[in-house]
Amino acid sequence: DAIMAARTAARNAQTLEELRAILDQFDGCALKATATRLVFADGNPEARVMFVGEAPGRDEDIEGLPFVGRSGKLLDRMLAAIGLGRSQVYIANIVPWRPPGNRTPTPQESQICLPFIRRQIELADPDVIVCLGGPSAQTLLGIREGITKTRGRWYKFDTGKREIRAMPTFHPAFLLRSPLQKRFAWRDFLAIKKALAE
Ligand code: URA
Repeated sequence: DAIMAARTAARNAQTLEELRAILDQFDGCALKATATRLVFADGNPEARVMFVGEAPGRDEDIEGLPFVGRSGKLLDRMLAAIGLGRSQVYIANIVPWRPPGNRTPTPQESQICLPFIRRQIELADPDVIVCLGGPSAQTLLGIREGITKTRGRWYKFDTGKREIRAMPTFHPAFLLRSPLQKRFAWRDFLAIKKALAE
């Protein structure tokens, strides 16, 4: 029911601002009740590359912007390493409300929010998508394999308008816990840089 309602609501949005307003009114996802506010997006909706995380954490819930906490600071450094700032990327999450205690969103919560992030992608119309972490990649790309297998690979993604490329990479929060894995993330970011130069 909630998934059907989300599909209908998302389809009604003709612009990103309309989508934000519709999402703010949507009561089909229980996380809205425990979150402080909606965390819709940051960066430039005109950017050629869009990053999609999992869900807001504590800092994001307070500020109303994605990736502003410790993970976000690392993401900013990784972006800077390939010559990108926030004004050259668009950033959102699969789930736009903070799950209590920063737990991983349930598959049900992710599926309810999926029509909205899909519509957000369609309206922003990027050339390249980067999925940050396994849950984002699995939900958005409809794949079952874990991030260790899928990172660095290009997947086809149908935006509803056209087919674009999407790459899963490690979530910055994971890289903070496992810094040795940064070398793989670095490879992925170089591939993203290359894709944007084409
Ligand atoms: N982790 C995410 O997946 N998204 C955020 O916005 C912040 C941390």
